[in-house]
Amino acid sequence: MAKLSINDLDLRDKRVFIRVDFNVPLSPDGREITSDKRIRASLPTIQYALEHGAAVVLASHLGRPKGKPRTDMSLAPVAVRLSELLGRPVVIAADSVGPEVAKMLPKPGEVLLLENLRFHPEEEANDPDFARQLASGSDIYVNDAFGSAHRAHASTVGIVSFLPRAAAGFLMSKELQWLTKVTKNPERPCVALLGGAKVSDKIEVIQNLLKVVDKLLIGGAMAYTFLRAKNEPAGKSLVEEDKISLARQLLDTAANKIMLPVDHVVVREIKPNAPHETVTSIAADQIGVDIGPRTVREYASIIQSAKTVIWNGPMGIFEMPPFDAGTIALARAVADSGAVSVVGGGDSEKAIKSAGVSDRITHISTGGGASLEFLGGLELPGVAALSDKAEATA
Ligand code: 3PG
Repeated sequence: MAKLSINDLDLRDKRVFIRVDFNVPLSPDGREITSDKRIRASLPTIQYALEHGAAVVLASHLGRPKGKPRTDMSLAPVAVRLSELLGRPVVIAADSVGPEVAKMLPKPGEVLLLENLRFHPEEEANDPDFARQLASGSDIYVNDAFGSAHRAHASTVGIVSFLPRAAAGFLMSKELQWLTKVTKNPERPCVALLGGAKVSDKIEVIQNLLKVVDKLLIGGAMAYTFLRAKNEPAGKSLVEEDKISLARQLLDTAANKIMLPVDHVVVREIKPNAPHETVTSIAADQIGVDIGPRTVREYASIIQSAKTVIWNGPMGIFEMPPFDAGTIALARAVADSGAVSVVGGGDSEKAIKSAGVSDRITHISTGGGASLEFLGGLELPGVAALSDKAEATA
């Protein structure tokens, strides 16, 4: 059912609590933001609220401080960056709840950023009293934190019981729109490109995507578990022995859809610039580190004729060039295909950036874990908690 959106609401003179995902990468001392992508991604929602006369309270987690305040996980640098991007002051509170925060609550046109929610263990415990305190002082709840929508926490789920309306922000809506489109109603042929180290991380995704896609192209270390399921050698490559029988079942049920690498870049020791070669059968002392050039050509030609591409996970040890070659080549193929392309997961996003094709990808998700759970067909608690549009606007 469609969810209520921020633009269904009258925000004038209302105080809006916006859950954002400002879980940005920081320098080791916690002072410098190394990518402000997640801050930029929520600007449309924040700007819209301000332009429509709202007072804005922003809340986010940053890192995993395990319920205790940590200076290296403060949102203070985020407040500075957000203020630069908005071109107006952003006040940071010393905490996310309590009497001092109550005194700082913003007036229309003002922005207050609460300190890291996870400095309180009650956030991750979805504690009702903490959720009530977060909500106190606000009139409306907006969730723009797609990246945290797979977490049932006080600020993503519990809080909705204490405010009359729970609407999606623009980033949340955009993420749901593209992920829903490619998984529920894709233009065909629809191709998924799945990589990464472990089959076990992506079982639900594989099972769910097999119901949707016309072809599932597998790369990364998880391909070696599939090769073993076909009784092909994988040498000393990473194989999940306990997932071989599951891989065999998947191949049995969808042999015509699942494609596996036909050649491999292999090394004898994993280290930067290790001597490497391309083989079609991996010897006992070899370790697979990337898909080979023939596989790249085969996969690229399937991608070329696709109308929809869903991509999650690198094809090899992407962070160690030259073993990023297969991933980069397929990033270019996805961009060149002109298909509707939806990419999730930090490594695939890095590959898209290194290949210089970010602006030719339809949608790069801001949520790693959240997009994976969505592709796995799971209901995201932070989305389920939002008000249904039909009921809220009746
Ligand atoms: C993310 O970076 O995927 C989200 O911000 C969620 O963070 P978490 O995995 O620590 O809950």
